[in-house]
Amino acid sequence: MSHTWWRGAAIYQVYLRSFADGNGDGVGDLAGLRSRLPYLKDLGVDAVWLNPWYPSPMADGGYDVADYRGIEPVFGTLGEAERFIAEAHELDIKVIIDVVPNHSSTESDWFKEALANPAARDRFWFRDEPNDWQSIFGGPAWTQVPDGQWYLHLFAPEQPDFNWDNPEVHREFEDVLRFWLDRGVDGVRIDSAALLVKSDTAYEDLDPVHDVYRRWRQVAEEYDERVLIGELWLADQERFARYLRPDELHTAFNFDFLACPWDPDELRRVIDLTLATHAPVGAPPTWVLSNHDVTRPVTRYGRSDTSFAHGGALHGVPSDPELGYRRARAAALLAMALPGGLYVYQGEELGLPEVEDLPDELRQDPMYARSGGANPGRDGCRVPLPWSGDEPPFGFGGSRPWLPQPESWRKLTAESQLADLDSMLNLYRHGLRLRREHLGDGTLTWLPAAERVLAFTRDTGVTCVTNLGTETVPLPDGVVLLASGGLEDGALPPDTTAWVR
Ligand code: GLC
Repeated sequence: MSHTWWRGAAIYQVYLRSFADGNGDGVGDLAGLRSRLPYLKDLGVDAVWLNPWYPSPMADGGYDVADYRGIEPVFGTLGEAERFIAEAHELDIKVIIDVVPNHSSTESDWFKEALANPAARDRFWFRDEPNDWQSIFGGPAWTQVPDGQWYLHLFAPEQPDFNWDNPEVHREFEDVLRFWLDRGVDGVRIDSAALLVKSDTAYEDLDPVHDVYRRWRQVAEEYDERVLIGELWLADQERFARYLRPDELHTAFNFDFLACPWDPDELRRVIDLTLATHAPVGAPPTWVLSNHDVTRPVTRYGRSDTSFAHGGALHGVPSDPELGYRRARAAALLAMALPGGLYVYQGEELGLPEVEDLPDELRQDPMYARSGGANPGRDGCRVPLPWSGDEPPFGFGGSRPWLPQPESWRKLTAESQLADLDSMLNLYRHGLRLRREHLGDGTLTWLPAAERVLAFTRDTGVTCVTNLGTETVPLPDGVVLLASGGLEDGALPPDTTAWVR
């Protein structure tokens, strides 16, 4: 099998609205991202994945796309996007964008046309009567239009679902793919990838969706080394692997690993299951600890229940910040050592906690409003990054970021962490550099280990040991390349990972 770049890449997720603000309006943008490219280069990532950057009313943070061939004016222009792609490539950083094929925006031309003219509704999922489906964000999945028909929206009402039985929808997305591949993007992350094709009684993981991705794979292969990445939240591993067959998607996010509690047996089970799922189809596994939809690891790992359930952000569950931080460091080195690709969500490398005390009136995630406030939503992991200085906006840009940053983040700025050799940022920088040299794509062999300890050797000769127990344990002989915390006389304390060679 050819070893192409994406098989072992470390991919950094940029949530553009919250990364860096170049024009001072409080919202992150392309100018801010371009100015911070050297930071990403120094961090040592191979690629960046950007959440949707298209024109959007932002009913769901840009996942309500009004025009798939443009750039949201708040973020910049198409010309700037092209310059960004070129500048990233000059630094040897690949660019992955987000494509949202399950649903559009009520502000898209197609939907406006459908509203105005009932004969133009076949691109969406209109019915005379709704069924009992509930929206993934809460509330009914159907909204009635003035003439009496209903349209389906699996997410917010501002996100009408496409009808993938209509060949025009297929043609449109193949054309959109080419539009961006022609502009040099190295891959696409496919939003809600298992939901596209529907029947009147089901919408998840229906077989004909695979025909869509077979076509997309053909489109991708008209170009050089472009990658298709699926967002697939599927419980059934065998069904999951079907999306990664050699003529479909290249990789998918490993949400089982992300959701897994900090428990050695559970982690071992998920890692083995992941490897066993990917091997038959020849796709590289991926290792994900966080993204823009989930509670930040530092907070999650400090709770008594360290697992995560989709849509399962929680209000006010106590978390021990020191314990969470220590475990998040250990988890980072574990994830970096596993064979395959790696995702790092912005701020993870700074050890940012979830911001749980945002004022309710500032919360923007539709999950919050549609659950009647029962679910705090995902704003707490989307707070603008702290770059430098002693007070908000911590070098983010402008004076007032779209979500307020905690004062306590003065200790977590990229600037202050760069100066501290033991910081989370330096752990990531060091780890990613070593990973590039010694880890990434390949295989692992488990080693015998003490109770509550995970130990494996990589095909490259590096051994990774994670201690999830309560006692300090000896390390195998060799040179310690990196450890997530201090060792005790050469032995590995609880909640710590070390790499040995
Ligand atoms: C995906 C995105 C999420 C978005 C949803 C609807 O799960 O990651 O942020 O809200 O799809 O597009």
